[in-house]
Amino acid sequence: MTDHFQFTLDKTDAGARLGKISMPRGEIRTPAFMPVGTVGTVKAMYLDQVRETGADIILGNTYHLMLRPTAERVARLGGLHKLIRWEHPILTDSGGFQVMSLSGLRKLDEQGVTFKSHVDGSLHHMSPERSIEIQGLLGSDIQMQLDECVALPAEPKEIERAMEMSLRWAERCRVAFGEQPGKAMFGIVQGGDIPALRIRSAEALSQLDLKGYAIGGLAVGEPQDVMLQMLETTLPVLPLEKPRYLMGVGTPDDILKSVARGIDMFDCVMPTRSGRHGLAFTRRGKVNIRNARHAEDMRPLDEQSNCPASRDYSRAYLHHLVRSNEALGGMLLSWNNLAYYQELMQGIRKAIAEGRFADFMAETQEEWARGDL
Ligand code: GUN
Repeated sequence: MTDHFQFTLDKTDAGARLGKISMPRGEIRTPAFMPVGTVGTVKAMYLDQVRETGADIILGNTYHLMLRPTAERVARLGGLHKLIRWEHPILTDSGGFQVMSLSGLRKLDEQGVTFKSHVDGSLHHMSPERSIEIQGLLGSDIQMQLDECVALPAEPKEIERAMEMSLRWAERCRVAFGEQPGKAMFGIVQGGDIPALRIRSAEALSQLDLKGYAIGGLAVGEPQDVMLQMLETTLPVLPLEKPRYLMGVGTPDDILKSVARGIDMFDCVMPTRSGRHGLAFTRRGKVNIRNARHAEDMRPLDEQSNCPASRDYSRAYLHHLVRSNEALGGMLLSWNNLAYYQELMQGIRKAIAEGRFADFMAETQEEWARGDL
């Protein structure tokens, strides 16, 4: 096991990149999908199951954990890994994005963000330095800079102001993080849907020589082709030898198309959240298990899957569980969905290794389009 953070790019094929991140807590095979474990749990899943689906890393949220149980308490309890029983790498988001989407009343200025907790209404302040301090207390392996993400559409002036401030915050976070050989702090490219601002952000962040770069501020209300265009604008500006992480994305289709443009890491609540709402992702596209057509269908979601939730449980039973609001319904569909996402990532990595990523992408999309049944 390595004692420092290292990204190795093994192969490039049709724009897609195959690689690995090595760090003390383990190896992350890229392109990677990171299941979201916001409050210290990948919702409705045992972490042993999450691991078995093929996840090398999960994500946690600074915003939620600082409010409850608090970063200091997690530290006293021995850190997040020990508390939740996950010994592999954990990436934590910095909190800026969640403050904007979840907290009540908030005030944002150069110093940081002041906000009202969605848990108990208490007032909190988070500076770039405090965000890094919290992520350190949690024991996070890959920490994210504090940034400001604006929802689209937005005024160019507003997008530029937030992007420039995020750059200054990146510098402050880098200083606060210091030298930690076995860990990493990633910068976040902002700039909304304006190519020149994306380029400015990516160039300035590249100068900071960070260990990895995230693309933020996407999948926030813009159409998919705008998101892909922003990737095409941004990625060539970033150093080839550093990992690139597209934050909060996305559907299986978003993932395929973003891998084709050179993204190495993803995270998204979609497989778990939509699982709890009765939506299954499969090799043959999306299946809404609440639909009446499944009520007496004794076939599984996918008889060829290695995942018990996908292979061994009938659609009729899943339909019944979800319609009855039973916890097991959300558990089984989250399991199916995470297994499918990891199967997709495994397929992507294998295809790049074999130099047939373009064919794999076309075949996969064809199979989704054929539809269920
Ligand atoms: N998650 C999804 N998008 C973003 C973003 O722009 N910034 C941060 N910090 N997290 C995100």
